[in-house]
Amino acid sequence: MSKIVFLSDLHLSHTHGFFWENFRRARDAANASEADLVIVTGDLCINGPDSDAEMQFAAQALEGLEARVFALPGNHDVGDEPPGQDPAQIVDEARLARWDAAFTADRFAIEAGAWRVIGVNAQLFGSGLPREAEQEAWLDEELAGARGRPVALVLHKPLFVEHAGEDAPTVSSLNPAPRSALLAKLQAAGVRMVISGHLHASRDRVVDGIRHLWLPACAFLGAGSHGGAPEVGAVSVDFATPEAVVAPLPGLELTPFVLAEIKQHGRWKFLRDMPPCPPEVASAAE
Ligand SMILES: [Fe+2]
Ligand SMILES: [Fe+2]
Repeated sequence: MSKIVFLSDLHLSHTHGFFWENFRRARDAANASEADLVIVTGDLCINGPDSDAEMQFAAQALEGLEARVFALPGNHDVGDEPPGQDPAQIVDEARLARWDAAFTADRFAIEAGAWRVIGVNAQLFGSGLPREAEQEAWLDEELAGARGRPVALVLHKPLFVEHAGEDAPTVSSLNPAPRSALLAKLQAAGVRMVISGHLHASRDRVVDGIRHLWLPACAFLGAGSHGGAPEVGAVSVDFATPEAVVAPLPGLELTPFVLAEIKQHGRWKFLRDMPPCPPEVASAAE
């Protein structure tokens, strides 16, 4: 088992189906790739923090993937860590419980080829919730269990945008305090790669000895207000050797939706506030 498909930022909803067709194409391309595993790096939903039905819809959609699937939560699934981009949707116990009911787990550790791949719940960092400390202790154990294998950490948000010294609170990445604690841990453990979604942009570069891979989104293009290249798509990563090989998912073409256009240039603040436009019932029932 060495080849993993990464799908990120699906933004699915049973009431707002803007991105359903893009998901179908990504799902079919992932199935055609015969990858051993699919990792979904967060933002499966639009209004996951407040909708049982939407989270169930996203969970059901993932059943169309033929490989084993691990899903990690994003801010549109369990809410943001404080202060957050939407004060009405801060991560809390009830939102984590909703995720657990749909996806069972919010973290994983596996061996893939030469690597150990560890997935964590990005929304816990800086949340102050009991599960944050629980995850920290678990991560320490899993990092220790790598025993010399290169480790890739997977989570919804990047650790930082440009560099680790960014000191302003931000919704674009982890916040400064939890970031420096996590980075110190990763550096001490010799972690080689960090793979993240959230910004809907692609980027692949080494900073202070760690390769930071930003994943394209399945749903829509990033605003381009950060580094990286706004992109829709998906990638596969082959972990067979200590040099992980990243490639676009073959045969995948997604519609490059522009969020501002969908929200009619400021008419709507959030997609969830827009008039319902469900995905085709026939498609949703597949
Ligand atoms: Fe997203
Ligand atoms: Fe996000």
